[in-house]
Amino acid sequence: MTTRPVVYVTRRIPETGLAPVREACQVRLWEEELPPPKSVLLQEVADCDGLLCLLTDPIDEEVMAAGTRLRVISQMAVGVDNIDLRAATARGIPVGHTPGVLTEATADFTFALLMAAARRIPEGVDYVRAGKWRTWEPMGLLGVDVWGATLGIVGLGRIGTAVARRARGFAMHILYYDPTRRPDLEAELGVEYAELDDLLARSDFVSLHCPLTPETHHLIGEAALRRMKPTAILINAARGPVVDPDALVRALSEGWIRAAALDVTEPEPIPPDHPLVSLPNCIVVPHIASATVSTRERMAAMAAENLLAGLRGERLPYCANPEVYARPL
Ligand code: DGY
Repeated sequence: MTTRPVVYVTRRIPETGLAPVREACQVRLWEEELPPPKSVLLQEVADCDGLLCLLTDPIDEEVMAAGTRLRVISQMAVGVDNIDLRAATARGIPVGHTPGVLTEATADFTFALLMAAARRIPEGVDYVRAGKWRTWEPMGLLGVDVWGATLGIVGLGRIGTAVARRARGFAMHILYYDPTRRPDLEAELGVEYAELDDLLARSDFVSLHCPLTPETHHLIGEAALRRMKPTAILINAARGPVVDPDALVRALSEGWIRAAALDVTEPEPIPPDHPLVSLPNCIVVPHIASATVSTRERMAAMAAENLLAGLRGERLPYCANPEVYARPL
C-alpha cells in the first residue's frame, strides 16, 4: 500500500477544492474561522508534503525551513505577496496560484465600488435607514457622473484590462499606466498610455490593479494623492499597502480628493475605529472582490489542481515562480 501524501490546508475552502485533495491525500484541515497562528503553521508544515494556503498566511523563509518535506505550496488566490517566492524558488518548491478565474468577478466588483462611491450609494442607504428621507431633494446626495468621465487604470494586467472593457460601456476615456506598454490593448480598447503622474492629474477615477511589490508599496502616498484632482475618486481592489493609509486619511479629510472605495486595506483587517472606516467619503469593504460562489469554487478547484500536480512531481499548471523549473538540479 502506498502512503498518501500529507497536506495541510489552512482553512476550510469550497468542496470543489477540498474533495479532490481529500481523495488523493491525507488532509489536515485548520477548521477555525481565523487563520492558524504562525506557531501552529510551523508545527503543521513540519511533516507535510504539500501546503494549501490563503493570502492571510505569511509563508516566509521560516515556514519553508520548518517544512523540510514540502514539495509544493498552493495558494487559493492570484496574489502571492504573502509568500516569499524567492525562498521557495531557492528551495526548489513550486508555488501555485489562481490567475484568470477571478478576473471578471474582481472587475465587476471594481465597477461596483466605483459606482457606489461616485453615486454615494452607502450614504443613501444610511440616510434611509436613519429615517432622514422626508422628500425628494433637488440637491441631496449629489454625486458625480461616471458616464463620459476619465478613468485611470494603474496596472493593465488581466483585471485592469477587464475593468477597461467595462469602462468602454460607460463611454469613459481610459488612461493606463503600466511598466509594460500594451500597444495591442491600446489598439483594441482605445486605452491611452500615460505616465503615472500624468494619469493621476488627468483622471476622474483612479483604479489600482497592480500587484504588491517593493516598487508598488505605498505607490499612492501623499505626493500621488496631491497630484489627483480634488474631485477625483480612488478605487483600490488590488492590495492594501499599495496605498499609504495615513496619507489617504488626510487626503479625504482635507479634500485633496473627493472619495475613495477600498476592497483592501493596510492593515487588513482594518480596525473598526480606523478613520478610514468612519469617513463619510470612504467606502471600505472586507476584501470581497472575488467573492462570488462560482469564482471561489473555481479558485478552490484550481488550487487543488496545482497542489496535486506538485505532489505528483508534475509542473504546476498555474505556477507563480516558474523560474523554479529552470534552476539547476
Ligand atoms: C487574490 O486572489 O489575490 C484576491 O485578492 C482574492 O480576492
